[in-house]
Amino acid sequence: MTFAPLTALVEEKTLPQSFIRIEDDRPKVAYNQFSNEIPVISLAGIMGESESQREEISKKIVEACEEWGMFQVIDHGVEEDLISEMYRLSREFFSLSDDEKLQFDMTGGKKGGYLVSSHLQGEAFHDWREFFTFFTYPVESRDYSRWPDKPEGWRKVTESYTKKMMDVACKLMEVLSEAMGLEKEALAKACINVNQKLLTNFYPKCPQPELALGVKRHTDPSTIVLLVQDQVGGLQATRDGGKTWVTVQPIQGALVVNIGDHGYFLSNGRFKSADHQVAVNSSYSRLSIATFHNPTPEAIVYPLKIRQGEKAVLDEPITFTEMYRRKFANELAVGWNKKIPSKE
Ligand code: SIN
Ligand code: FE2
Repeated sequence: MTFAPLTALVEEKTLPQSFIRIEDDRPKVAYNQFSNEIPVISLAGIMGESESQREEISKKIVEACEEWGMFQVIDHGVEEDLISEMYRLSREFFSLSDDEKLQFDMTGGKKGGYLVSSHLQGEAFHDWREFFTFFTYPVESRDYSRWPDKPEGWRKVTESYTKKMMDVACKLMEVLSEAMGLEKEALAKACINVNQKLLTNFYPKCPQPELALGVKRHTDPSTIVLLVQDQVGGLQATRDGGKTWVTVQPIQGALVVNIGDHGYFLSNGRFKSADHQVAVNSSYSRLSIATFHNPTPEAIVYPLKIRQGEKAVLDEPITFTEMYRRKFANELAVGWNKKIPSKE
């Protein structure tokens, strides 16, 4: 297959057909029409002495998880310099030459590396996005032969950055476990090991952004996802099954937290799996860096606690691998897809 980078299409007036979404799927709000509705929560005091302060923070987190499955955290303890260094180096990635990026090409089933969404076969529509993705935890899952040695310093900064993100994700899992009335290790134990994958997304300027999406509407399969975005904007979410969409307000140094499908199932549907998509624009390119925190593939997915009067949101315990398979086979009722008939 010949390589057609998205950047070659930026100067075009019209979009190639494969990027044009059907009308219903196109963005309903502008990429920069920001909303403050998604809670912004300070984590200052989450590790502190004051029990009332910890409870206050935990209450806000739980409310956001119940309503959106999404919130932003500030005062999370990850140095702003580390985030901006990670950001700078990630941007440099995407300005490497096509040949350099394609050394890490993931088409053909490679695990980890570089991909332009339009190179994916078998999709009716293409996302307007390029990305790099790497397994980062457990440490043994790192395939350093797939990790670029350019730009200089990227590997080292990635190691520090992903460690810090792992710490924040584990802290949030503790808060959510306790909020479910369980021991604080409950979510992490259900993961067996908390695995992590890094994903760096680049969205070039788009000639007809109102017709396309950077990433189509989806929920993440993970337990918890932490995302850093720049000031451009484009991440959009809904809390009501898609009746209203909001564009998340970018906040310098904040982390966007998404609950994913695994978090949804373990909480028996109490915490939403964040329903989201990415809008693009014709004025600015945009970059976002996500870390996905997932269970071990063999970990069992089933609600950790079923409250009185509730029915389990899963018919039977399944492995995370099976959850993943059913999700992409459209056999799971999660996110806005609540139409799958139950076996009962
Ligand atoms: C994603 O959901 O994978 C990307 C989110 C973003 O770019 O903001
Ligand atoms: Fe996502």
